[in-house]
This record gives sequence, C-alpha cells and structure tokens, in this order.
Amino acid sequence: MSAIPPGARLLVTGGAGFIGSCYVRDVLARRDGTQVIVLDKLTYAGNRANLAAVEADAEQAARLTFVRGDIADPAVVGPLVAEADAVLNFAAESHVDRSILDPAAFLRTGVEGVHVLLEAVRRESERAASGQRPRPPRFLQVSTDEVYGSVATGFSREGDPLGPRSPYAAAKAAGELLAWSYHVTYGLDVVITRGSNTYGPYHHPEKLIPLFVTNAIDDRPLPLYGDGLQVRDWLYVADHAGAIDHVLRNGAAGEIYNVPGSHLVPNREVVALLLGLLGKPWSLVRLVEDRPGHDRRYAMDGAKLAALGWTNRVGFADGLAATIDWFRANEAWWRAARSGEWDAYYERQYAGRIANAEVAPVAPGDLADGIGA
Ligand code: NAD
Ligand code: DAU
Repeated sequence: MSAIPPGARLLVTGGAGFIGSCYVRDVLARRDGTQVIVLDKLTYAGNRANLAAVEADAEQAARLTFVRGDIADPAVVGPLVAEADAVLNFAAESHVDRSILDPAAFLRTGVEGVHVLLEAVRRESERAASGQRPRPPRFLQVSTDEVYGSVATGFSREGDPLGPRSPYAAAKAAGELLAWSYHVTYGLDVVITRGSNTYGPYHHPEKLIPLFVTNAIDDRPLPLYGDGLQVRDWLYVADHAGAIDHVLRNGAAGEIYNVPGSHLVPNREVVALLLGLLGKPWSLVRLVEDRPGHDRRYAMDGAKLAALGWTNRVGFADGLAATIDWFRANEAWWRAARSGEWDAYYERQYAGRIANAEVAPVAPGDLADGIGA
C-alpha cells in the first residue's frame, strides 16, 4: 500500500469529463488540503463547465490547476508528473459507438497516451530511487468491465481472462495491460480499477441514459438497439469516483479491483423506469438496428473491493431519480453538449436506424407506473 500524503498533489487526467470531474469536485470539496492538477484535452466530451462549481469557490479554486493538453504529448506530461504524488488516468475516448465509427483516436489516447504517462511515472520512480524525490508517484489506471467482454452467466473476477470485443474495449484492455506490465517489469506503483456502467449528473448525452432522458424531454424517438434485452450493471457516478479514491489510498500495488454497481438491469427496464420518472410514453421507443458486436451482458464480482473496505452508497432508483432531476434543472448544460459536432454525429449514428425502425411493442414488465403507449 502506498500512502498518499496529506496535502497530496494529484494529477487527474480527463478531469473535465463525466467521471473525472465528479472525482475532482468530490475530492476538493473535502477541503483537506489536497491539490489537484487536471490535464484534459477538452475533446467534444470534455467540458470546463463541469468544474465550474469548484472554480466558483475561492478555497477550492486555489487548489485546482487546469492544463489543457494531450496525455499522448510527453512535453506536457513530463513536468506535470514530476510535480505529482499520484496520477489518476481517467482520460480516454469513452463511447463504444464512436469507436465503431472511428477507432483511431481510441488507440492514440487509450494506448499511446497511457504509454506516455507510464514513461513519465517510470522516470519519476527512478528519481525517487536515487533520492531526488521523497517517494515514487502512484499510478491509477481507470479501466472498465468491458475488458472482460460479454459474460453470459456468472460474475467476472479480477483474474479472469480478458476478451474485449469493441475497439473501445480493446484499447482499454491494452492500456491496463501496459500499466500492469510496467508494475511487473519496472516495479512501478500501479493500481487498476474496472468500473461498470456509470450514470449521473454531467453524463454526456451520447450515452444511453442521458440520451434517452434528453430525447424524451424533447419528445424525440428513443433508439433502443436490437431487442433491448442487453444487461448492464449500473453504478452511480459519485460511487464510482469514491471507489477510485478508495483504491488510490488503500489498494495494493499491482492489484486490479472490480468496481461493480451491483444493479444488473436489461436496457428495456432502464428505459421503462426513466420514462415513468419523466411521465413520457413508451411509444417514443424505437427498436433500431443493433450495435455491431454488441456485448449481451456485463457482470462483475465485487468481493475484492468490498474486502478493501468499500461499499457503494446510492441505489439505482434513487440515483436515476437524482440524475433525471439534474438533467431537468440543467438544460443549458445538455443543450450545449448537443451542439457543435453533435448533429453530424447523431445523423451518422441514428438517422438511418430511426428511419427504418418501428415503434417498440410493449412487452410485459416494460411499463413503469402505468405510463403506456
Ligand atoms: P468522458 O468521455 O466523459 O471523459 C473523458 C475525458 O478525457 C474528457 O474530458 C476528454 O476531454 C478527456 N480526454 C480524452 N482524450 C484525452 C487526451 N488524449 N488527453 C487528455 N484528455 C483527454 O469519459 P468518462 O465516462 O468520464 O470515463 C472516464 C474514464 O472511465 C475512461 O477512462 C473510461 O474508459 C472509464 N470508464 C467509464 C465508464 C462509464 O460508464 N462512463 C465505466 C467504466 C470505466
Ligand atoms: O460498462 C462500462 C462502459 O459503459 C464504459 O467503459 C464505457 O465508457 C461507457 O460508455 C459504457 O459503455 P456501454 O456501451 O455499455 O454504454 P452505452 O451508454 O453506450 O450503452 C448502454 C447500453 O445501451 C448498451 O447495451 C447499448 C444500449 N444503447 C446505447 C445507446 C447509446 C441503446 O440501446 N441505444 C443507444 O442509443
């Protein structure tokens, strides 16, 4: 275990994205002296406004440094890692559908970017070994349950073989394998987390829950892939960020920790629940052409993380209600995220699918609170 000292300096890459910004907001809100440097490229998914609450608070803002830059750029990364007690790598291209349309950026950030970060950590670890800094930086790689691939039955454990099936998942698997190899080969202090499907405030509207919530608010069709019976394990964003922080401070070097939500639900049920909460009809749902290579089910065993002392706090019903409240109250935020390149992406991803789709027939169990077609 590597102690993160009081007043530690944390380099948080991808800290303007969905989960990274939650991590930054929550850690700085503790007011315990922690310093955060965010390194973020501000891709279409990154948004400085996700850190507005921190920047509006003088005490927290004084402990945040924001650097716009690429984790695959050694000239940017080197000096930042030199200042850091720990590096948490949230930066990634994170949307499976975009990885199917254009994989290149996924490899650049997910593999080359991770390599650049690891080389910088390796250099700093050598400096620590020769007494030029007090201790080596810890490196935490934020990975995903998607590295296991589709799991027909049972629950993936950390030692199970990997079977990524999309370019996104393959890039994430490559990134974490590289990180682990630097632990084995060079003795770097590496920990890895594998989180499940995360949802909550500030979630980019390209993903299932925020896409369907924002489309439903506007009475637009909801494009449900295939038969809509794929199963995901939903994890509230503050729990995911909290688990990552717990592993950072308590995890053993070279170890991997699953971070499940422990709430497995088929997509149709998620959609019925959110329509019920929004008071919108099932007739908005369209069964559209499936995602190529669509993983049927993810499910992870969380015993190792539980043994480390972590428990999630937010159940799915409460988390989903809070998420919908947030989207209702923050329309300017999501309308801005659905601007710029959004229209071209939406057209490419959905126009043909929706044109060829039919209204989804209502299946038993699809109705929530009596909201029907
Ligand atoms: P996100 O797309 O919302 O945010 C990614 C952030 O990384 C953005 O701010 C973006 O600007 C930044 N970024 C991208 N490329 C970069 C680069 N080359 N250099 C610097 N910054 C760059 O993603 P998210 O949903 O917050 O996911 C964060 C991490 O968690 C990712 O590594 C993802 O693979 C992992 N993860 C996500 C989920 C989920 O359900 N969202 C679940 C498990 C794991
Ligand atoms: O499991 C963890 C992963 O969860 C993370 O590693 C990824 O970064 C994150 O994006 C997420 O991946 P998914 O592919 O599971 O999430 P997405 O929201 O894209 O899709 C969730 C489910 O909903 C999946 O079965 C596909 C389906 N779906 C999604 C979209 C966007 C639809 O039916 N229609 C849609 O329009």
